[in-house]
Amino acid sequence: MSLTNEAVLSALRGVNDPELHKDLVSLNMVKYVEVADGVVNLGIELTTPACPLKDQIQKDIEKAILPLGAREVRIEWSAQVRSARGPSGQLPGVKNTIAVGAGKGGVGKSTVAVVAALGLAREGAKVGLMDADVYGPSIPKMLGIEFEKPRVRGEKILPLDAHGLKVMSMGFMIEPERAVIWRGPMVHGVIRQFLEQVDWGELDYLVIDLPPGTGDVPLTLSQSIPLTGAVVVCTPQEVALLDAIKALRMYQQLNVDILGIVENMSYFRAPDTGKEYDLFGRGGAKKAAERVGVPFLGEIPINVAIRASGDAGTPADCFDKTDPATRDGIMSFVRRLAGQVSIKSLSAAPPLELKIT
Ligand SMILES: Nc1ncnc2c1ncn2[C@@H]1O[C@H](COP(=O)(O)OP(=O)(O)OP(=O)(O)O)[C@@H](O)[C@H]1O
Ligand SMILES: [Mg+2]
Repeated sequence: MSLTNEAVLSALRGVNDPELHKDLVSLNMVKYVEVADGVVNLGIELTTPACPLKDQIQKDIEKAILPLGAREVRIEWSAQVRSARGPSGQLPGVKNTIAVGAGKGGVGKSTVAVVAALGLAREGAKVGLMDADVYGPSIPKMLGIEFEKPRVRGEKILPLDAHGLKVMSMGFMIEPERAVIWRGPMVHGVIRQFLEQVDWGELDYLVIDLPPGTGDVPLTLSQSIPLTGAVVVCTPQEVALLDAIKALRMYQQLNVDILGIVENMSYFRAPDTGKEYDLFGRGGAKKAAERVGVPFLGEIPINVAIRASGDAGTPADCFDKTDPATRDGIMSFVRRLAGQVSIKSLSAAPPLELKIT
């Protein structure tokens, strides 16, 4: 068989994206094909810079193309996050909106929202973080920006820039430590104001940290903007799982897609011996995910550096001061989450142009 552009392209029609289960050509992921002196140059555009299966895709491409007689396959990778929200007047520059919720308080929603946002940004995506916890906003402290105030330009509120994220929180609007008692309609008003008046600009992902429970905020959010989907955080105890399932049901009733469940405080790894202890019964969230038929996004262990970074307002420490296993756990969660968003975006994706030279 001769090594032509057409032969390469036809071979690529046989290479599936392992997550999206369609071939790279139909997915419009092949940007260009060039064959010169037995070397095949390819431009491959991933659907997220946090692609969980890039290495696998590379191997599959090589396996399909080398037998055509190629000496070498050189891939130029790029990424273009696709929107899974469909057209909407609200938040026009925001491609995807990811709500992070849980059935109960204190399971690590805010922590998970922070590591998800930061992890996606570290992979190269443009990310915003919206603290929609109107009752006890904790994002400003976790990011070390609790004493800053967002600026106003014209009619718009400008989110703060922190750690490479665009951040907005109810905490900037109220005094710290002042208890907030809101009635449903007030919550509704505040959330809508957030959505309408904050100038988020262009974002690949807007991560939204929800208050505990199944109250007014998810309701208002789901009515006000098309959510790409929700991540449900839970800890491994049986009682916590029941709450998680309650949260899943709520999202289903609200017609919000579930991107998956993540197990936080999954286990503890002793820093001195490396031994792992399953304090709360690790693995429960995975079982729950299988039972209710939603994706399992991974497990994040209990880690002192994660807790300390939240208190000190130094979120990068979740990546830079944790052990490799914890860091891998976090990044694998981030990539699986990005993968789920990509899967959802498939039907909503506009056609891209394929250039063959
Ligand atoms: N994986 C983890 N390892 C260590 N500490 C953690 C971990 N996840 C969360 N924490 C800590 O647990 C506490 C509660 O976490 P967080 O505030 O994220 O929970 P939450 O679900 O958002 O709570 P709330 O319901 O009050 O909004 C924080 O001190 C946080 O630093
Ligand atoms: Mg919180």
